Amino acid sequence: MKEIKNICCIGAGYVGGPTMAVIALKNPHIKVNIVDINKERIDDWNDEDLDLLPIYEPGLAEVVAQTRNKNLFFSTDVKKGIQEADMIFISVNTPTKTYGKGKGQAADLKYIELCARQIAEVATDDKIVVEKSTLPVRTAEALKSILSSTGNGVNFEILSNPEFLAEGTAIDDLMNPDRVLIGGDDTPTGQEAKDLLSGIYEAWVPKKQVLQTNVWSSELSKLTANAFLAQRISSINAMSALCEKTEADVDEIARAIGMDSRIGAKFLKSSVGFGGSCFQKDVLNLVYIAKSYGLDEVAEYWDQVIKLNDYQKRRFADNIIKNSYNTVSGKNIAFYGWAFKKETNDTRESAAIYVADHLLDEQANIVVYDPKVTAERIYADLEYLNTHSPEEIRERVKVVNDPYEAITGAHAIAVLTEWDEFINYDWEHIYKLVLKPASIFDGRNILEVGHLKKIGFSIKNIGK
Ligand code: NAD
Ligand code: UGA
Repeated sequence: MKEIKNICCIGAGYVGGPTMAVIALKNPHIKVNIVDINKERIDDWNDEDLDLLPIYEPGLAEVVAQTRNKNLFFSTDVKKGIQEADMIFISVNTPTKTYGKGKGQAADLKYIELCARQIAEVATDDKIVVEKSTLPVRTAEALKSILSSTGNGVNFEILSNPEFLAEGTAIDDLMNPDRVLIGGDDTPTGQEAKDLLSGIYEAWVPKKQVLQTNVWSSELSKLTANAFLAQRISSINAMSALCEKTEADVDEIARAIGMDSRIGAKFLKSSVGFGGSCFQKDVLNLVYIAKSYGLDEVAEYWDQVIKLNDYQKRRFADNIIKNSYNTVSGKNIAFYGWAFKKETNDTRESAAIYVADHLLDEQANIVVYDPKVTAERIYADLEYLNTHSPEEIRERVKVVNDPYEAITGAHAIAVLTEWDEFINYDWEHIYKLVLKPASIFDGRNILEVGHLKKIGFSIKNIGK
């Protein structure tokens, strides 16, 4: 069997960067080149100061320190990366389409197609091409058609190897994955390709956790996994609304049902709504695929997961307004957290963006503190919605680097991200700095309610 000596990964993002860093660490005999057209991102990956890596993930800097410029390289030379590689991972973004057919639902595959065309143009010897990005089922068919159109005698074997890491725990998830999924053809060359990729993971993942399937099952398993995870959050969030009407407590319910081993305890944390770059886009993509096969009931079923999530974000913002004597106009609302979850600087689809937008509609002033997110990112997130002018956003939204500055003179505090540090703030001091009556809206149910009430705060939780 052929040996893999050189890997190229196209896309140095949240998946490509950490995944390849771990593959390089565990396979010191393989040279791994990560290439990207974004020069700034590549420069940041090559920055000597590891604090300036483009992505913040616990443990990532340590892995990069051990591998970079030994067998892990970051470059903008995509062509050279492709030419040298035995195996090419495609790990580019696959956002929701914002134009044309499928707008707002289908995955935009233009970046994937560009990669395939470039591989077809540049490759002079046989390659294994691995879909690492999350893709609609049957994308491999389109890739194969583009790659085989060159007629230059080069053979391409296409594998699907979706990534299941979660941000904030990426390195741990990569080091100890529940499973690695590899889909490919059942032909002799397809089997050889699957085994070669399995071998790379088996450098650290037990063989029984490396699953091989056909390529369509692999592609569809990834969308299914994200849909099931998102559905769990929407299910518990649906119950949170009912809890708020009935004096039941959603955390007690999560504990009670989570102890049923058939349900399981994980992913039952009620919140202001799920965010992140993938849940919404992947569920919408599933809805689109189901519709395109005429499976309207299936599409509607999954669409509810998104509708409920939108409802939860809006409900949280409406609760702030309702409990602020029905108006937030001209009032200061302090946001603790902007990232879509703790331990990441990623803000894509963060619930905070939509809650802020809703409050801006009501003419609130917002002061944001997040330990990892920059002011430019926050302004860019709000401007991207195109609902308020950049001038209005800069006038109404202030971003500060000090959590105590954020709440000084605030009419209300809203917790949007579950950063641990929020729990241990000096809440007695905070009480003195906010306007009275002192109100907290905990969108993550992380603060100690008894302690805060004793200080004098009124606190509204999700699902309580
Ligand atoms: P990202 O936006 O962080 O990174 C993608 C990178 O690809 C960007 O740096 C972009 O410049 C680069 N790129 C785009 N087109 C290119 C081209 N033609 N040539 C070279 N570089 C190109 O995206 P991400 O979060 O890493 O996600 C990548 C894929 O992985 C998506 O399909 C996503 O659904 C999936 N995924 C993401 C996560 C996650 O936690 N973020 C987890 C699992 C799967
Ligand atoms: C998610 C999946 O967990 C990964 O397996 C998958 O690889 C990834 O999407 C992807 O395909 O991109 P990620 O979005 O990084 O990972 O983070 P999660 O931990 O899943 O959290 C997503 C959102 O759900 C966050 O906003 C989080 O706060 C929220 N959440 C999560 C809840 O509100 N409640 C929970 O119980 C869990």
